[in-house]
Amino acid sequence: MTWTEGYISDVTYPAFFYKEMQPGWLSAVAGFRGFVAPDASAPFSLCELGCGVGVNLLVAAACHPDAHFVGVDFNAEHLSLAREAAAACGVDNVEFIHADFATFAHSNNRQFEFITCHGVWSWIAEEYRTALLDCVAGSLNAGGLFHLHYMCHPGSTDLVPLQHLLNLSAHHLSGPSPRKAQIGLKLLLQIADSGMFADKPAMPRHLANLSRRDPADLAHEFLADHWEPQHSADVHQLVSRSGLTFLGSADVFNNLDVSLSVPGRMQALIRGTTAPALAETLKDLARDAHQRTDLFQKDPQPLDYEGFLARLGRLQFRLLPDAPQNGPLTFATPIGPLTGPDAIYTPLLQRLAAGPASGAELSALPPFRDDLGALVQALQLLMMQQLAHPMARNGPAAADRAERLSRWFARSGIALSVVPECATAVPCAVVPT
Ligand SMILES: C[S@@+](CC[C@H](N)C(=O)[O-])C[C@H]1O[C@@H](n2cnc3c(N)ncnc32)[C@H](O)[C@@H]1O
Repeated sequence: MTWTEGYISDVTYPAFFYKEMQPGWLSAVAGFRGFVAPDASAPFSLCELGCGVGVNLLVAAACHPDAHFVGVDFNAEHLSLAREAAAACGVDNVEFIHADFATFAHSNNRQFEFITCHGVWSWIAEEYRTALLDCVAGSLNAGGLFHLHYMCHPGSTDLVPLQHLLNLSAHHLSGPSPRKAQIGLKLLLQIADSGMFADKPAMPRHLANLSRRDPADLAHEFLADHWEPQHSADVHQLVSRSGLTFLGSADVFNNLDVSLSVPGRMQALIRGTTAPALAETLKDLARDAHQRTDLFQKDPQPLDYEGFLARLGRLQFRLLPDAPQNGPLTFATPIGPLTGPDAIYTPLLQRLAAGPASGAELSALPPFRDDLGALVQALQLLMMQQLAHPMARNGPAAADRAERLSRWFARSGIALSVVPECATAVPCAVVPT
């Protein structure tokens, strides 16, 4: 069978890791946005809807032995790979449930502090998007966070006719999905060579991106029958009907001040826009956003200034492997390179190079004494570039499981190393075994 409910099911989805799906990250970001967030150092429960082969859950479960994790997916092959990895690494606090979202919404009676969903929403039929939100509405605790990733306009708009052709040609081909995707891609490249996309300047970039992708990934990404980028305002409206409030982006760059996160010529217009949905849409246009990773909360409780300070003050930060120890830095951002000045980053990096530091200690460094906002922005840029990270409060059990999981990744050809101190993972070279 090639498609299940219009979604590709004859090939395994490759293993990907997203730091923005980890509970410690989500909790820290909600705090940066000024809201009381579930505590990722106390016992909690997290569900990933459409968990694929479970890499994100495995990292989280290995690093948080006292928490409970649930992955839901209707592809049994994906779940058996995930279960195998969990058993091999002694990760016993994750369960993988074989169900579609509608079945899970009806049968589930667990409650969660975190629900995450990556690479699913824009690829499934409307009835399953509704079921997905039913899962969230029915099982997210008050104060719980919902992470939702989706493809958006205007950055993905150019891809609509490309995806249509890939999907249509796949329905007229036989054989495995990755082969169908590659044949479809060849057709698109032929069309481009004949000059058909001459009026679309971004098309060569899109086609080069498609050509670089692993064929299994290409099939999952582009052969789904219900593939559809969305406008952020529409998604926010739908999610709000489930009783959730939009807090900001789980991708911290998008939460930075407009002076850093939007091209200069659009900044004044966005600053002058008071309607949140319109401002968010203008940001998508300014950034030519092609994907979004939004963060929503059920019954959000805003922090007052003292609460914000206390929360930031308690967080501990440390450098991730290979972080530089001096500024200036250049951050790779969706709107181009951004320079992090020496005056800010050298004191910050040097302090962190000496060992972990709390937000309270960092806020006492000279550049931040009178400018807490500068510290919050600097920390988020370091997190974005995987140079620094909030720390987890876990113990030796997490370190042991993380070590076993890192070894399992290496044996499986997955270029990831788990960092238990921060309850995350970072890319690494794969050493052939
Ligand atoms: C692109 S993969 C994403 C995997 C993982 N979240 C990640 O980001 O690496 C999408 C997953 O959603 C699952 N899926 C799609 N539609 C579903 C549905 N209606 N019910 C349950 N799982 C579904 C697929 O089987 C697939 O494993």
